[in-house]
Amino acid sequence: MSPQLSLLQPYPFQKLKQLFADVTANPALAHINLSIGEPKHATPQLVTDALIAHFDGLSAYPATLGSDSLRQSISTWLARRYSIAAPNPATEIIPVNGSREALFAFAQTIIDNSGESQPIVLSPNPFYQIYEGAAFLAKAKPYFVNCNAENRFQPDWDAVPAEIWQRTQLVFTCSPGNPTGAVASLADWKKLFTLSDQYGFVIASDECYSEIYFGDEKPLGALEAASLLGRDYHNLVIFSSLSKRSNVPGLRSGFVAGDAKLLASFLLYRTYHGCAMSPMVQAASAAAWDDEVHVIENRELYSQKFATVTPLLQGVMDVQQPDAAFYLWAKINGDDAEFARKLFAEEHVTVLPGTYLARNAHGINPGLGYIRIALVAPLNDCIAAAERIVRFCRKYSLPL
Ligand SMILES: Cc1ncc(COP(=O)(O)O)c(C=O)c1O
Repeated sequence: MSPQLSLLQPYPFQKLKQLFADVTANPALAHINLSIGEPKHATPQLVTDALIAHFDGLSAYPATLGSDSLRQSISTWLARRYSIAAPNPATEIIPVNGSREALFAFAQTIIDNSGESQPIVLSPNPFYQIYEGAAFLAKAKPYFVNCNAENRFQPDWDAVPAEIWQRTQLVFTCSPGNPTGAVASLADWKKLFTLSDQYGFVIASDECYSEIYFGDEKPLGALEAASLLGRDYHNLVIFSSLSKRSNVPGLRSGFVAGDAKLLASFLLYRTYHGCAMSPMVQAASAAAWDDEVHVIENRELYSQKFATVTPLLQGVMDVQQPDAAFYLWAKINGDDAEFARKLFAEEHVTVLPGTYLARNAHGINPGLGYIRIALVAPLNDCIAAAERIVRFCRKYSLPL
């Protein structure tokens, strides 16, 4: 058995299950789950229609590179969304079965263990746990860069010592961030690109929340930032997804785009890994990328929820409307796990303790004293949950 497997931590939801193991939730109240980041809005009809219309695709093996028409749809979407030159659909785009598998597989492709020192993979902290697992299974060492309120929840790259940068082969970034919703600015990208040029590492930019935002200002993407700074996509790959944009987490569809040289190696890896996308899913994905109407409607639903719930919670905790994504990253000033446990017991509402989404690094756990509230449930459930949280905090005079 691979010894690397023993390094993997239980997933945050497993930890939550353990936390609640001996708790009996208030039976008078229906459960409202705001812990998991799973979209709950309806899947658009155009996606299900396209799936049904393409059953005949099941009779053929799909190509690992996906169909020309899907890659063309993605290229057109990228150019429209980010006002960039359309990426070459033959060399700069690969469809993937959700960004999760691609983030994981990409690390296996990039990490080179042939040197003397163990390679390092940089990750924001708090973070999406796949980054850490991908690093471990590639036999690299994860190094966490804390994201605090003082740094607009952006990784503090200045705090990373030169000897760490020298061993860094891959940097994961997440903008809009999970769990903070923070969006990296052009200046943030410029700094990271300069470091990548200096030290030669690859940037894996996780952008799966890019289409969930609240005002007119679209979150800046990494390819867009490169283009605005007059750079090519050398050592830069983005990971995008339909899961949140189009409410299809079960479709398993996303793409990677960027550096053609890296993608050629990634395609080779994927050929052996055997993760081509079903032709039905490809057809449904192209239909989804070609349409923005459902995406605008989806954003509206989230905007309504954030506009209603955030002011309610602001009465009892330190919480701001995020730049983007569908989470509130709320500071509760007490023990976050204890807060989640008691809230579940007394109000039958599930939120995720911040410490479950972060690691102790550089003397602190940046998730300590935070909870993540996913506003994925229907509006009325989100309001009911917020009212229960307010009641709970008032009862205990929280924040303490
Ligand atoms: C930050 C982040 N990246 C990637 C993913 C994976 O999404 P998917 O595989 O559905 O594209 C998630 C899912 O919740 C996420 O939160």
